[in-house]
Amino acid sequence: MIITIDGPAGAGKSSISKALAEKLGFTYLDSGAMYRALALYLLQRGIDPGDQEQVLPYLKAVDISFRNAHIFLNSEDVSGLIRTPEVDSASSAVSRIPAVRKWLTRLQQKMQEHGNIVAEGRDMGTVVFPDADYKFFLTASAEERARRRLAQMGYDKKDIVRFETILQQIKNRDKSDSSRAIAPLIPADDAIIIDSSDMSFGEVLQKILNIIRKEEKSGKS
Ligand code: DC
Repeated sequence: MIITIDGPAGAGKSSISKALAEKLGFTYLDSGAMYRALALYLLQRGIDPGDQEQVLPYLKAVDISFRNAHIFLNSEDVSGLIRTPEVDSASSAVSRIPAVRKWLTRLQQKMQEHGNIVAEGRDMGTVVFPDADYKFFLTASAEERARRRLAQMGYDKKDIVRFETILQQIKNRDKSDSSRAIAPLIPADDAIIIDSSDMSFGEVLQKILNIIRKEEKSGKS
């Protein structure tokens, strides 16, 4: 079985996908981590992640895999190295190169060989697994995502100036992600859209589990 969870940054996709995979005993496929691992590889070698000509020759030398929810880049566990602001912006740049997306799409599709998966990202339901059994699009208002980000970063929720800056960054990112020509961030036609703005983590997880269990009982395979 394949379950896809797509949506914008900050909507709670990662924690929900991880918890769902754990609950169901499925493999968790964090596609964003793959873009990040490639970006890290390029940064370590001084390659411009936005320059297709420079990037493409290196793909042959890159091996990305998952083991026990850790991500490995050419056998090195890089789980702790891919969550920096530098990798954040480099992964966004490299994810715009069509040949990179094609290469990672193939790697992601190969993960079906490991059995049941929960695949999280931006284009899991639209491009990578168009025939997935369940497709969810998890979103939240830009304001709520900015509030969550502010709290995550440890800032006071009354810090209006910082809130406005984060909110603007989120809006800009949403605009560029959903208007990009290749694999734009849009829900698949058959995705179930969940707006988590007024929902707790537990409520979102339960809603997804209810949908899967209910449909299984009523005979959807
Ligand atoms: O979800 P994330 O922040 O870890 O993703 C890192 C970058 O990769 C982000 O800029 C969006 C991009 N990405 C993508 O284009 N397609 C995916 N399926 C997953 C991530």
